Amino acid sequence: MIDPFRPDLLASKTTVVTGGGTGLGSSIALRLASLGASVAVVGRRPEPLEETARAIRERGGRAFAAVADVRDPAAVAAAFDAIEHALGPLNQLVNNAAGNFLAASEELSPGAFDAVVRIVLHGSFNCTTELGRRLIARGRGGEVLAITTTYAESGCAFAIPSACAKAGVLALVRSLAVEWAHYGIRVNALAPGAFRTEGAAARLMPGLDEEQLLRRVPAGRFGEHWELANLVAYLLSDASPYQTGDQVTVDGARQLFSGQPFAWYAGLDRAEAKRLLATLKPRK
Ligand code: COA
Repeated sequence: MIDPFRPDLLASKTTVVTGGGTGLGSSIALRLASLGASVAVVGRRPEPLEETARAIRERGGRAFAAVADVRDPAAVAAAFDAIEHALGPLNQLVNNAAGNFLAASEELSPGAFDAVVRIVLHGSFNCTTELGRRLIARGRGGEVLAITTTYAESGCAFAIPSACAKAGVLALVRSLAVEWAHYGIRVNALAPGAFRTEGAAARLMPGLDEEQLLRRVPAGRFGEHWELANLVAYLLSDASPYQTGDQVTVDGARQLFSGQPFAWYAGLDRAEAKRLLATLKPRK
């Protein structure tokens, strides 16, 4: 990992990371704590949450694990109360908890659509407004960051519950950035591309192997968790006070690749690409 930050970058921050027990959420929680933030991880299952919190404490950080289903506003409020009792007043939130699966849309039940939208969109709304109310009542600013996805704007075939939910989260981010700038609350989104996690490996891309997937990533590789976590740290820090209402993409140019008709040549051996392109040159 490359570390561009001073070790106390986030020392004044107390941060909730939803879905912080596993995957990218856990990597984010550990990174924020390594830069001095007090970190609370929130999720449905106590074991992985405790594991992340323990790992933070073993490295000398401050951490708290709070069990709550982000779909339930009362459970979120109770979890935030418990976190503030343990760690002090909150000032930041990472909306990372998510659910997703691939399915033909004509076969989706209303319950399946609901399951994902309620975790991703309602969950982000519940947590964001819970934090916002606390910050506004105290006259304190703060930061909210939503982990979205590059398809929040393009839509995504075979994943419409997630596509609709993430589009909603992006609308939430952009709306609140305007509405809450008055209170000194910054609201941003971060859209990761292909990052390896157990959850994604289990639920996404049956029948698609790694080589096929990476052919569509100009950077030619998966992202490393630290590459995402460093961006999260920067966006949540006082080093980015003018950044709000934005969606930052970290995907090795995968999204752009999909929209560029001749991008295919970039995935070929470069000498081969040039040989093919040379066949188009006018003969002298
Ligand atoms: N394809 C189609 N429908 C599915 C499905 C799939 N792969 N997985 C679940 N569903 C449907 C269920 O059949 C059920 O439908 P019903 O109401 O008509 O019976 C509905 O979704 C709810 O399922 P349930 O298992 O009760 O939902 P849950 O709220 O416990 O779980 C999920 C939520 C479905 C999103 C689950 O995948 C989850 O918890 N994921 C969290 C982790 C994750 O996905 N991370 C993202 C990695 S990229």
